[in-house]
Amino acid sequence: PSLSEVLNLHDFEHVAKQVMPEKAWAYYSSAADDEITIRENHAAFHRIWFRPRVLRDVTEVDYSTKILGNASSMPIYIASTATALGKLGHPDGELNLTRAAAKHGVIQMIPTLASCSFDEIVDEAKPGQVQFYQLYVNKDREITKRIVQHAERRGIKGLFITVEIVDAPQLGRREKDMRQKFEAEDPSEVTKAGSDGVDRSQGAARAISSFIDPGLSWKDLKWFKSITKMPLILKGVQCWEDCLEAYDQGLAGCVLSNHGGRQLDFARSGIEVLAECVKNLKEKRGLSFPNEKFQLFVDGGVRRATDVLKAVALGATADNDYIDAAVGIGRPFLYAFSSYGVEGVDHALNILKAEFEMNLRLLGAPTIKDVVPEMVDATNLGIH
Ligand code: FNR
Repeated sequence: PSLSEVLNLHDFEHVAKQVMPEKAWAYYSSAADDEITIRENHAAFHRIWFRPRVLRDVTEVDYSTKILGNASSMPIYIASTATALGKLGHPDGELNLTRAAAKHGVIQMIPTLASCSFDEIVDEAKPGQVQFYQLYVNKDREITKRIVQHAERRGIKGLFITVEIVDAPQLGRREKDMRQKFEAEDPSEVTKAGSDGVDRSQGAARAISSFIDPGLSWKDLKWFKSITKMPLILKGVQCWEDCLEAYDQGLAGCVLSNHGGRQLDFARSGIEVLAECVKNLKEKRGLSFPNEKFQLFVDGGVRRATDVLKAVALGATADNDYIDAAVGIGRPFLYAFSSYGVEGVDHALNILKAEFEMNLRLLGAPTIKDVVPEMVDATNLGIH
């Protein structure tokens, strides 16, 4: 189908399924076990309803925001998705994301397991273009230290440490992917990502994750603070207790995420976890939202600007000038560049911009700051 027939982010998935090599499709689209969590990730947004306001001047609407203090044209960022497998989707790999992100003023989170090298992706960025880095912590902490300090030197503005358990023995069973035995076209691609002794017999996901340290614990966070000044964010927090622990340890924030449904099946959606984290941070730590100290991000199943605005509403308040709300979007951008290259990602971002513009008008919210908790009815999430 031509790009003009792609009307929303869901459409990219349907196109990708038709045009992508079967192995790549299996790796990108698969999720854990019975794939209940991946379905819930999007479905959870259906339980939140809007309470729009009327008679507000919405002649001009502005959906720009800041993420960790960095300007972003809209309250989304490109989530890190490991593609370190012979550039499964497209010969330019992540560079498609870098180029489209530059054009649209959005932030790309570079994955540890990218198919392009870290420096290639940073070199591709325009001057002043903001990038984050997603870190898988290597068992060898000297390697980790080198990676982190190199990222800081290259101007990375936020370090997102993935804390879900993703070590090979514990990697979520993605059966769709496991049926496709992975053969690296170029084994150096895998080695470059830092994993040795790779077992390629059990699908792409298992092949690339064997170096990740399952021994990582709360005690290690102090060490991270000692080796970098970048804001530290935990990616993959799934309950308020861990969120409060991250806050107490002085981190800059958490991404409430279940890894796109790829790890523990029946993990709850990020949006549901957001609601309980906000509630407990307010009640137990006296924190108001938004604030400059601690940021909550969400990813998983975000496909529409309305999904994003629901998350923003749940994490934002009107009586504070500081705006720092964002959600990550993963698969739609992978499907977009796998099907159409950089133009696909460009189109996806244009679709989102048009959706933000229209939906802010319909909500009666001229700016992101006006998207307040009272604009949603989230009682169906069961958290009051
Ligand atoms: C991911 N995700 C991920 N997360 C991470 O921290 N490190 C990684 O290497 C990867 N790799 C990865 C590969 C693929 C193919 C997918 C689909 C996802 C998870 C990702 O950052 C994010 O949490 C989800 O993709 C968000 O869900 P959606 O938008 O894909 O539904």
